[in-house]
Amino acid sequence: MKNKVSVIGAGNVGATVAQYIAQDELADVVLVDIIDGLPQGKALDLLEASPVRGFDSIITGTNDYKDTAHSDIVVITSGLARKPNMSREDLLIKNTEIIKSVTEKVAKESPNSIIIMVTNPLDIMTYVCLKVSGFSPNKVLGMAGILDSARFRAFVARELNVSVADTHAIVLGGHGDLMVPLPRYCTVCGVPITELLSGKKIDEIVERTRKAGGEIVAHLKTGSAYYSPGACATEMVAAILKDKKRLIPCAAYLKGEYGLTDVYAGVPVILGAGGIEKIVEIKLTKEEKNALHSSAEIVKKNIKKITI
Ligand code: NAI
Ligand code: 2OP
Repeated sequence: MKNKVSVIGAGNVGATVAQYIAQDELADVVLVDIIDGLPQGKALDLLEASPVRGFDSIITGTNDYKDTAHSDIVVITSGLARKPNMSREDLLIKNTEIIKSVTEKVAKESPNSIIIMVTNPLDIMTYVCLKVSGFSPNKVLGMAGILDSARFRAFVARELNVSVADTHAIVLGGHGDLMVPLPRYCTVCGVPITELLSGKKIDEIVERTRKAGGEIVAHLKTGSAYYSPGACATEMVAAILKDKKRLIPCAAYLKGEYGLTDVYAGVPVILGAGGIEKIVEIKLTKEEKNALHSSAEIVKKNIKKITI
């Protein structure tokens, strides 16, 4: 039997996730949006590309959550995106309302699914989804660390003129300007970049990674990134559906790990058929741990501003 993935929100990120999942033949895809015609039109357009691109995944578009019933995974991208001069936190109040209502419908139709949150502010929306769904924390996770790490890797690869395939990176913390890239754990074929790049260059790459989402918003002016976020959410879907046991930084609900409780933060996890199968606690220096705590503190402060 084919897998079923529903993608809520048929905007830039949602449509891109649907496209990548279908092209990789990971699952049949149901694309949902509140706007009548938008998911139907995009799904049909993607389906009509399938003979040429050579994939047999079926994509349907709908405004009715009944069509999402019994999904294996639900990727939530519905909500407002950043515009210039907007932080991810500016989206807080409006997107909380959207995520609450979407989560209720998703949980009703697919009570056994795993939910991957994409909507910003990411760590807070994932928290809202956990509380509203009543799902176990291993089945509600957020996409951000994999994207922030991909950006870090792309910048390192361009700087050293090496293949991205040989780069690895970990970015921890909340998906905000206080995220915590870890140069010590960023390697090119096992060689830490601290041995390949000057401290000044690494600082520049770290800063660019932290601001990478904003850099794209400044170029686009009317919205935010979607190709790389779409690719990263698809990679998480693949890890779960193929039970790959990938070690990927994701927003995970912490219950004491890294000294943090009742908050979502980006940490390395093992991702497999059970969703988050393990939170991996890597050794951090005092400075790195403090940075992780400062980043999580902002998330906690923002959680206090909303009503769930
Ligand atoms: P978009 O504006 O292109 O699409 C959002 C879609 O959500 C729209 O089609 C809209 O009609 C739909 N929507 C709004 N309310 C809805 C509801 N109640 N039910 C169903 N659909 C609803 O925005 P885009 O670029 O796709 O971004 C989506 C979200 O993802 C934003 O919050 C953005 O900030 C976030 N994002 C997060 C990233 C991450 O790393 N976690 C990366 C990129 C974007
Ligand atoms: C990004 O990092 C806007 O969170 C989004 O591109």
